[in-house]
Amino acid sequence: MFETIDDLDDQQRLLMRIDVNAPVDDGEVQDNRRFVRHAETISELLANDHAIALMAHQGRPGRDTFVTLEQHADILADHVGESVEYVPSTYGEEALDAIDDLESGDVILLENVRMTDEELADLTPEEHGETEFVQTLAPEFDAYVNDGYSVAHRAHTSIVGFPQVMDSYAGRVMADEYEYNTSVERREFDGKVTMVLGGTKAEDVIAAMEHLDEKVDQFLLGGIVGHLFQRANGYEIGRDTPEGPGGLYDDNWEANEETIREVIDEYGDRISLPVDVAREDENGERVTDRMESLQGGPDEYMDIGEATIDAYRPHVEESEAVLVKGALGVFEIEEFSYGTRGVLQAVADTDCFSVVGGGDTSRSVEMYDIGTEHFNHLSIAGGAYLKALTGEPLAAIEALEK
Ligand code: 3PG
Repeated sequence: MFETIDDLDDQQRLLMRIDVNAPVDDGEVQDNRRFVRHAETISELLANDHAIALMAHQGRPGRDTFVTLEQHADILADHVGESVEYVPSTYGEEALDAIDDLESGDVILLENVRMTDEELADLTPEEHGETEFVQTLAPEFDAYVNDGYSVAHRAHTSIVGFPQVMDSYAGRVMADEYEYNTSVERREFDGKVTMVLGGTKAEDVIAAMEHLDEKVDQFLLGGIVGHLFQRANGYEIGRDTPEGPGGLYDDNWEANEETIREVIDEYGDRISLPVDVAREDENGERVTDRMESLQGGPDEYMDIGEATIDAYRPHVEESEAVLVKGALGVFEIEEFSYGTRGVLQAVADTDCFSVVGGGDTSRSVEMYDIGTEHFNHLSIAGGAYLKALTGEPLAAIEALEK
């Protein structure tokens, strides 16, 4: 087991990893439950007079969500109710100066850790611990806290490197989510277990499907992963086009085609796929095409269609447990929220055991007033939640335990 912030002495200088990786819409970082949950941990630590330097990431290099953390600092400050100073450096001179000035009750947010050379380097945890990033920052602090459960599945420097050389503790979000998700993993259900899989991070979903076949009776697919499975079945969907949104499909397809085909061969009878999908027509209206008569480009579809929702609902209704990971469409746009809402509403209407995870998916529950009280747990994690359900160890937890 690992130590938690309950084991910390007061008035420490803390280096803390959080995960406020968020959707970015036209350059604007979108607030979500991750900020709220981490703000609670930060407030709790401030009440014990700690001084805190936060580390976090946003996006991945090369994506348009790969931006600085300036806006994140403001959003966090709103939730904490205290100023959170953004420092445009992760471990350079500016960062060291700001850390030097840190006093009890102060919070600063260092620059996006993925803008350093080390964070994403392919190193062992021990090697991450020897990087300049870790060796520069570690001596400036009394302890390291990791609250970023939703990024706990990544063996990156800010996650596995610091615990090699510092006293390390799990934050409140890390400890609570870990406990909840591992309890689900160990839980036995007598009746049918259904898993709803969608979202944009197809690689996490497909990797998990390989390991979940003994635990899950029925998979309901949507989002990017639904399109890729239908591409495997020969439909003209799930491909990038030069005029389309770009980069959502072909790389994922190349990396995962073999696994997708294996999964379909092994237990395709337990996988439900979209029978229709929705896109925007030339008048900007939602239009739905049956899978066998697709009219739109292979990357134009943004939601599952009504017939698919009707086909998925009975599976939910007859389940004892429903585990949701990822949205079934672009739910932020009302017209393409039908799939995500329809399935979540079906979950809310039954008294099955339910967990909703997937970075931002739980936001749709609040956005469309589905009622958080109808769900057993709304996880802020996506890939980490899925990995925990497969029973595989999480890199962050292993590092904290060590
Ligand atoms: C997430 O949003 O699921 C985590 O922050 C991990 O992000 P990543 O998939 O880019 O590593």
